[in-house]
Amino acid sequence: MTVATTRSIISGEAGAQTAPRVQVRNLSKIYRTRRGEHVALDNVSIDIGAGEFVVLLGPSGCGKTTLLRCIAGLEEPDGGEIHINGKLVYSSSAGISVPPEGRALNMVFQSYALWPHMSVVDNVAYPLRNARASTSEARARAAETLELVGLGAFTAAYPGQLSGGQQQRVALARSIVSNDGLVLFDEPLSNLDAKVRDRLRVELLNLQSRIGFSAVYVTHDQMEALALADRVAVMDVGRIAQIGSARDIYDRPTSRYVADFVGSANEIAGRIVSSSEGVAIETPMGRLSGVAGSDRLAEGAKAIAMVRPEHCILASPGSAASGNQVEGVVERSLYLGPVVQHFIMVGEQQLTVSVSGGEGLQPGSRVAIGFAADRTRIFAA
Ligand SMILES: Nc1ncnc2c1ncn2[C@@H]1O[C@H](COP(=O)(O)OP(=O)(O)OP(=O)(O)O)[C@@H](O)[C@H]1O
Ligand SMILES: [Mg+2]
Repeated sequence: MTVATTRSIISGEAGAQTAPRVQVRNLSKIYRTRRGEHVALDNVSIDIGAGEFVVLLGPSGCGKTTLLRCIAGLEEPDGGEIHINGKLVYSSSAGISVPPEGRALNMVFQSYALWPHMSVVDNVAYPLRNARASTSEARARAAETLELVGLGAFTAAYPGQLSGGQQQRVALARSIVSNDGLVLFDEPLSNLDAKVRDRLRVELLNLQSRIGFSAVYVTHDQMEALALADRVAVMDVGRIAQIGSARDIYDRPTSRYVADFVGSANEIAGRIVSSSEGVAIETPMGRLSGVAGSDRLAEGAKAIAMVRPEHCILASPGSAASGNQVEGVVERSLYLGPVVQHFIMVGEQQLTVSVSGGEGLQPGSRVAIGFAADRTRIFAA
C-alpha cells in the first residue's frame, strides 16, 4: 500500500489516470468439493476505469463475492489474468499470483471487520502503520479521513461504542486512508437499516466523486445497484450477462434474465411473426411490436414480449393509440403511496400497470393498456 499525502486524498489525483484501474481477462474459478466441481466464474472479462464505480449485481450464489475475492487476491482463480494499475497481479499461464498486500486496493465487508480493542483512529490508521508510517503521521491522516466521513468527533471511541452505520463509516475511512485508488465493497450496507443505508449510499457517492477512487461494489439489491453505479454488471451463474449504465440495464435489457432480475416486468408469450425492422409477435392479446434483445429471433419461433408496469399507460377502451394497445378488466388496484398498482385481466392473463399519483379503479371496469413499441422488449422463450 502506498502512503499518499493528505492533499492527494482530497484532490483526487488517483482519478486522473486514464488506463483501466482493473482489467480482468477470461477469469475462471472452479470450487472443488466432495460433492463435485462447481464453476463459480466462467471466463469472466471486465474493465474498471480509473474513478469508475462498477456494481456487480446478481442473485445469491452467482459468483459476485468470488470475483471480488479473486481481484483482491484472497481467492486463487483457475485461469485468466488480472491487471491492477497496469501491473499483472494474476496470470495462470505466467504462473503469477501477487498476494493481497501487494495489490493496491482495500476492501469493505458487510461485517465492518474492525479491531474491537483498537480506538477508531487506530483502526483507520492501521493500513498506514502497516505501510510503515510513523504513529503520529498515521494518526493525523486517520483523523483527517475520519473528518471526511463525518466522524471527526469519534476518534477516541472504540468500535463497540458506535452504531452500525458509524462502524461502517470507520471501515470506509480505513479503506480510503491509504489512497490506493481502488476499493472493493462486498454488500457493505446490507447490515444497516433502510434509512441509514439510503444516507450512507449518498455519502459514499459524494466521497467517491470527491476522492476519485475506483469502486467495485457487490450487491444483490437492484435499486442499490442502479443508484450507485456508473456501470452495472449483471451476473448469472459465473458469467456476466450484461454490463452497461443503469439506464441500459433497466430500459434496454438484452436478455430475459436481465429484464427479469432487474425491476419487474409483464411477460406475454407468443410467436414471432416478423423480425425485420423491429419485431412483431403474435400473442393471445393480439399482435405486439417491440425491440429485440440480443437473442436471434426467427419467424415462427416462440418468444416473450416484456414490458415494465410503469411503462404502461391506462386509457379508455377504444381510444386511438400509437404503439401497442390491449384491453382488459380491472381486477384490483393497490395504493402503494408513490404509485397505484393496477392488476388487469387481459383475456386469461393478468398484467400489472403502475401509475404514479393516480386513483384506484373500480374492479370490473374495462380499460385499455397502452405501451410503446420501444418500451417492449422481445426475447427468445
Ligand atoms: N469456498 C467455497 N467452496 C466451495 N464452493 C464455494 C466456495 N465459495 C463459494 N462457493 C460456491 O460458489 C458459488 C459462488 O459463490 P459466491 O460467494 O461468489 O456467490 P455470491 O454471488 O457472492 O452470493 P451471495 O449473494 O449469496 O453472497 C456458490 O455456488 C457457492 O456455493
Ligand atoms: Mg457474496
